[in-house]
Amino acid sequence: MFKELEMICKVYENESYAYDETPKPVAPKPAEFVVVKPSNSQEVSEILKFANSKRIPVFIRGGGTGLSGGAVPTRRGILISTEKMKEIEIDKKNRFAICQVGVTLEELSRTAERHGLSFPPRPGAESATVGGMIATNAGGVRALKFGVMRNYVLGLEVVLPNGEIINLGGKTLKNSSGYSLLHLMVGSEGTLGVITKAIIRLLPPLKEMSMLAIPFKKTEDALNFAIEASLYTTPMAIEFMEKKAVEIGEKVSGKRWVKKEGEAHILAIFEHEEEAEEVAEIALKFDPVDVFVPSPKEQRDLLELRGNIYVGLKNMIIEILDVCVPPAEIGKYLKRSEELALKYGIQLITYGHLGDGNLHQHPLIYEDWQKSYPKFRRELLKLAIDHGGVISGEHGIGVVKKEEFREFYPKQYNLMKEIKKVFDPNGILNPDKIF
Ligand code: LAC
Ligand code: ZN
Repeated sequence: MFKELEMICKVYENESYAYDETPKPVAPKPAEFVVVKPSNSQEVSEILKFANSKRIPVFIRGGGTGLSGGAVPTRRGILISTEKMKEIEIDKKNRFAICQVGVTLEELSRTAERHGLSFPPRPGAESATVGGMIATNAGGVRALKFGVMRNYVLGLEVVLPNGEIINLGGKTLKNSSGYSLLHLMVGSEGTLGVITKAIIRLLPPLKEMSMLAIPFKKTEDALNFAIEASLYTTPMAIEFMEKKAVEIGEKVSGKRWVKKEGEAHILAIFEHEEEAEEVAEIALKFDPVDVFVPSPKEQRDLLELRGNIYVGLKNMIIEILDVCVPPAEIGKYLKRSEELALKYGIQLITYGHLGDGNLHQHPLIYEDWQKSYPKFRRELLKLAIDHGGVISGEHGIGVVKKEEFREFYPKQYNLMKEIKKVFDPNGILNPDKIF
């Protein structure tokens, strides 16, 4: 396939690149594809020039941890894997990293720490890459205090489909110089250009970390606690897990949650111990089962438990949803979504970033789900919008939310299509995604 491509770079065949972490029932079907592994923007440029001249679809894959099918090669084409783009440099005094996009979250954090700095947000799995996290504007745990990927991208090197290499933004903390094409790239899911390098803002090291693990008898109390706590301080995270989610996390991680009594379980994370102490007092006003202050070892265990819920759920669910609503609307949204699920006879398992208003709802697979589920999900996503929210808070539109995206945001959709044409007139970049 694509014989002349071999003159430009080494071509691989690897079926394991056909999927990301999107649950099977909604994952797109991969088409025939070849893999290339460029090591710099020059090589990406050559590949794109070739693909563009032949109108060959190009897909870009980072860590393959995506949850909306964004990296799946859905048409006969070329898949660019960024795995060889691993260079990273730290400018300590200016507090940024310049890295190629194949650098993983773990590598970025570790390198920053070795230089006495930190990359505080956790916008993905440890093996997620800088490129993938930028392409989806990933959020994750800690977004409440430290923001999302967008807040850390100062500059980008991008290769356009015609092979042109452009630099957007730069090394400065501020930039009011015209339209922010930089931020247009963030969250563009590989549809506008291939991001090859990024200048990522770093912060001083985090000093300590404190946590509270709080089971609440009633969900309503847990939600009200989160609102009240966030009025007092900004925690790094207020994570919510319903009881079933806790049990799944326990099973996969082999770690124990503090106490299983109660229907709503909160893991609140703080930068400073005093914040945790004060927030523990606030929690006591909301009838908790108990308030636990985990030791550093227990903190790691509880994070591992939380991080493994999706692993345990992946094969039982139709998909993972990631709506985001204004934080104080979560109570109403959750109540109405549960009513909706009941109406359809669908079981949802819920956990997520309560402090951000960003929830992960997982419909369990049921017989003949294809018949009624699409209607349910449409109503559910509409519900998020009716509560002032968005249909994707952190995983992106990809393939899985295209229909609703087009339906619920028609004007933006059309504008985005026009923008897409400016960058990629031949439509070779990540076709079938977003549009
Ligand atoms: C999480 C990922 C699935 O929050 O977004 O665990
Ligand atoms: Zn999440």
